[in-house]
Amino acid sequence: MKNLKVIIVDPVHPNLVINLKKKFLLVKYVPGISYNELSKIIKNYHVIILRSGLKLDKFLIQKANLLKVIARAGVGLDNIDLDEAKKRKIKYFNIPSQSSLSVAEFAFGLLFSAARKIACADQQLRGNLWNKKDMYGYEITKKNLGIVGLGDIGSKIARIGKKFKMNIIANVNNNNSKRKKQLSERGISLTSLSNLMKKSDFIIIVVPLYKKTINLINSKNLKFLKKNSIIINISRGGIVNENHLYQVLKKKKIFAAATDVFQNEKKYNKLFKLENIVVTPHIGAMTYEAQKRIAVALEKKLLSKL
Ligand code: MLT
Repeated sequence: MKNLKVIIVDPVHPNLVINLKKKFLLVKYVPGISYNELSKIIKNYHVIILRSGLKLDKFLIQKANLLKVIARAGVGLDNIDLDEAKKRKIKYFNIPSQSSLSVAEFAFGLLFSAARKIACADQQLRGNLWNKKDMYGYEITKKNLGIVGLGDIGSKIARIGKKFKMNIIANVNNNNSKRKKQLSERGISLTSLSNLMKKSDFIIIVVPLYKKTINLINSKNLKFLKKNSIIINISRGGIVNENHLYQVLKKKKIFAAATDVFQNEKKYNKLFKLENIVVTPHIGAMTYEAQKRIAVALEKKLLSKL
């Protein structure tokens, strides 16, 4: 490995950088590097470590003549052109599960912030506005929580919801009778997406991005939401149609929304103009604990691939 060069293009735990520096010829740590900058230097590296910060598309992969391994320090592989990687016999892997607790907890952070207008109150107060009268919100205990997608993160969200005595309903792809039974033993009932939208007080979207989930949440099902409902997207931009969500929020058809993900990240978004949405820059997995676990698992997996 002493003849290989690594580039890390997104924020990772410092331990990973320190450890890899001992093993590789060069480790270039450039979190937040722009697409254009990367396109000029990617040809020099044998390994790229990335998160969700940029798209490793066909164009970039074609420039990366020396590339042997693409290591995704997180779950989603949707920002990597896997077909091109396969074509060029570049190995790739992700690190699932290690951040799911952080993301599940973060979903509740967004839920509390939206339900109690915490981010909005904070912003107004910094502008010297003591606006108590407009700060009515909702409790979350014993409410209906609809979870769309019950993978690792969704299951952890359900477990946290149970601590607040919430009634958990879920919409999943695989709803065979065995799964239905297992979930009902855990107090989770499965239902259709439209029924979930009708019944839930709070909806958390936590499905991966693929063809079938693009625009999964759109004006056709947003219309089912209750007036007091809150919808939260912690999965990927593009799963909730941003234009349709904007209209629903602008017309105050629902109480609020929150999103950690956007169709075009790192860009201005008209949703930022609205007071009834909490917006964060894709930070669900940004905890010391999650990133430390990911660093350990990634190092091990990477060394096994070379
Ligand atoms: C993930 O897929 O793990 C998340 O998008 C977190 C990230 O890498 O930023």
